[in-house]
Amino acid sequence: MTKHLYIKTFGCQMNERDSEIMAQLLSQEGYLADAAVSEADLVILNTCSIRAKAEQKFFSLLGSLRQEKQRRPSLRIAVAGCVAQQEGEHIFERMPHVDIVVGTQQFWQLPAILRRLEQGKGRREVACGLAKDFVIPPFQKLLQEQPVASSSPSKFVTIMQGCDNYCAYCVVPSTRGREISRPVVDILEEVELLVRQGVKEITLLGQNVNSYGSTNPVADKATTFADLLKMTAALPGVLRLRFTTSNPQDLSTELMQCFRDLPNLCPHFHLPVQAGSNAVLKRMHRKYTRELYLDKVAELRSFRPEIALSTDVIVGFPGETEEDFAQTISLLEAVRFHGSFSFKYSDRPNTRSAAFSDKVDEQVKSERLERFQSRQNEISLERNQEFLGKSVEVMVEGRGDAGLKGRSGSNHIVHFAGPDQLQPGALVMVTINHAGQHSLKGEMTK
Ligand code: 5AD
Ligand code: SF4
Repeated sequence: MTKHLYIKTFGCQMNERDSEIMAQLLSQEGYLADAAVSEADLVILNTCSIRAKAEQKFFSLLGSLRQEKQRRPSLRIAVAGCVAQQEGEHIFERMPHVDIVVGTQQFWQLPAILRRLEQGKGRREVACGLAKDFVIPPFQKLLQEQPVASSSPSKFVTIMQGCDNYCAYCVVPSTRGREISRPVVDILEEVELLVRQGVKEITLLGQNVNSYGSTNPVADKATTFADLLKMTAALPGVLRLRFTTSNPQDLSTELMQCFRDLPNLCPHFHLPVQAGSNAVLKRMHRKYTRELYLDKVAELRSFRPEIALSTDVIVGFPGETEEDFAQTISLLEAVRFHGSFSFKYSDRPNTRSAAFSDKVDEQVKSERLERFQSRQNEISLERNQEFLGKSVEVMVEGRGDAGLKGRSGSNHIVHFAGPDQLQPGALVMVTINHAGQHSLKGEMTK
């Protein structure tokens, strides 16, 4: 009998991929991921805990499901992801309408847990173990017989989980555990599977991809991230390759040279800086200086001059002075990022900075965020104007109200007119004739 699944993903791309995998594993149990909440037999909330706001969003959605559960007691509600890992069975105390809590290393168990509950073995279950020696299961083997989940030409492939960096503000080491790399063969097998299913663009994912390999199973220890990137780029059918996220401290010359040597590696690099002040970086426990960051940017540009750079910035980290913040603005002026994600610092459970005493006033944080973002917006527009008159390669993603929509190698959304029969995944050349703050427009040339 077909059952209906509603799955909502919060947070990062890694969660998006985990949600897809959960949906595929559950499709083998007869669940179709096609439902609205009001028709679902199972609701999964795959949660994020990176900032206080992300967590609040999830709790308010979960709270609103209480009525639905009262109306239809057969509805099962599962909480997965980083908040599940962080809260474990405490979620039941706060939200008694939840049936299942599965942590970041345990969501593979979801089908078995559901079977047990369906057989009447218990009323609710929690599985939140987080082990240092966890081995990411070769789940690509389970996905083998699956039809393509969606028509998206672009997919994420998780190459590692967790993080060993312990930045002072970051919840990830406690929600995703210690850093664990997937074996090379598993990754390549998954990429080949996706390509067979029609995927054209692959993004390799990890919290800190630059240290891939140092936490590999023994047989793969010699493989660096640059090696993995080269192996993936060489697989037939991988038209475009991207990766995220990198930590500046481990960014090797060998990896940067890949942008010169691999034609299918897209000219975009997301390199989170977090702050422009050395004093703040030190208290954040980031193991690089602004000087080192700027050197890496210069080296990267020496290998691929047109590379588009984006970053993450936190404003109002505890103890951040006006002068420290000015250093962040000055770094923005020095690099002129194409775009950035910027956030007000928020305390997270089990992090060192949560215990720091010199918190920045909420209003000061808001005001700094506003200043940072408005300067970034101006720079983004100027950066985008650099594309005017240039011809860029665009991968078609779909059709919107205003014609076709795609993405450039530099990771810009590009709107353009073109023939109806162009399918998602097609590569076309577009000459840019309009630049906005967040997207480009142009004419298709071939
Ligand atoms: N407060 C605000 N922003 C944070 N980030 C991570 N932890 C926090 C926090 N406690 C931001 C960082 C990171 C991005 C994913 O989220 O900029 O790179
Ligand atoms: Fe959110 Fe980080 Fe967990 Fe991703 S790994 S879901 S960004 S807390």
